[in-house]
Amino acid sequence: MIRFENIVKSFGSRTILKGVNLEIERGKTTVIFGVSGGGKSTIIKHMVGLLKPDSGSIIVDGVSLESADENALREIRKKVGFLFQHGALFDSMNIHDNVAFPMIEHQKLTPKELEYKIDEKLTMVGLEASVVKSLYPEELSGGMRKRVGLARTLALEPEVILYDEPTSGLDPVTSDFITQMINRLRDEMGMTSVLISHDIAESFKAGDNYAMLFDGVIVEAGNKMAFQNSTNEVVQQFINARSTGPIAFH
Ligand SMILES: Nc1ncnc2c1ncn2[C@@H]1O[C@H](COP(=O)(O)OP(=O)(O)O)[C@@H](O)[C@H]1O
Ligand SMILES: [Mg+2]
Repeated sequence: MIRFENIVKSFGSRTILKGVNLEIERGKTTVIFGVSGGGKSTIIKHMVGLLKPDSGSIIVDGVSLESADENALREIRKKVGFLFQHGALFDSMNIHDNVAFPMIEHQKLTPKELEYKIDEKLTMVGLEASVVKSLYPEELSGGMRKRVGLARTLALEPEVILYDEPTSGLDPVTSDFITQMINRLRDEMGMTSVLISHDIAESFKAGDNYAMLFDGVIVEAGNKMAFQNSTNEVVQQFINARSTGPIAFH
């Protein structure tokens, strides 16, 4: 569904991605692990064209991003939903308007269809639509804001969802709910997901495929079994950090 071929990206004099090769399989959940500041968010920002590589190519659903014009990029952004690291709801809009926003921007819906879809997406993420619609983001808990963010991402019915640390700062129950959501979307709708997570235990409940980013390259990638059995030192250290608490890794 998404392929990175030898992606290089520098910010100023610092080269963050040094030739990333990565394959995101359709209908599966791919987890990207790596140290904090290692470039995980940078990778997923490239998947929707928010960042451009210095060299290398990115192919999304058969379309090469570097040769895509504005129209093609717009289509890709509809296909690939992005759940930002810090929720990113509009504070001045209530929940109804937050979820309506992308649909009004991108779809031609009748008022009735719009209301139906807002209720449908909020219900999908386990929220009581009639209760939360009139509330503002500041009136919700972090976990509820995260769900609204997911409802807004789902509004455009994407084929891929990119989750940037979706459970960071959430309580275990809400974290587990998000993980189950990711699995349900895959099982019921064939969703392709890319998940960046510092939460190793949670990620092993959600992922099909895993990739380890280290020092600007993917040092290991494979399905859960292959990844867990990897003899790569970085992977082993990362997985084993689970028992003592991941200190150096996020
Ligand atoms: N737009 C930017 N301009 C300059 N530096 C950036 C920018 N985005 C990210 N960086 C730097 O690139 C490195 C990788 O960042 P990031 O991809 O956010 O890491 P991660 O998500 O793995 O924690 C960090 O050192 C960060 O400060
Ligand atoms: Mg990040």
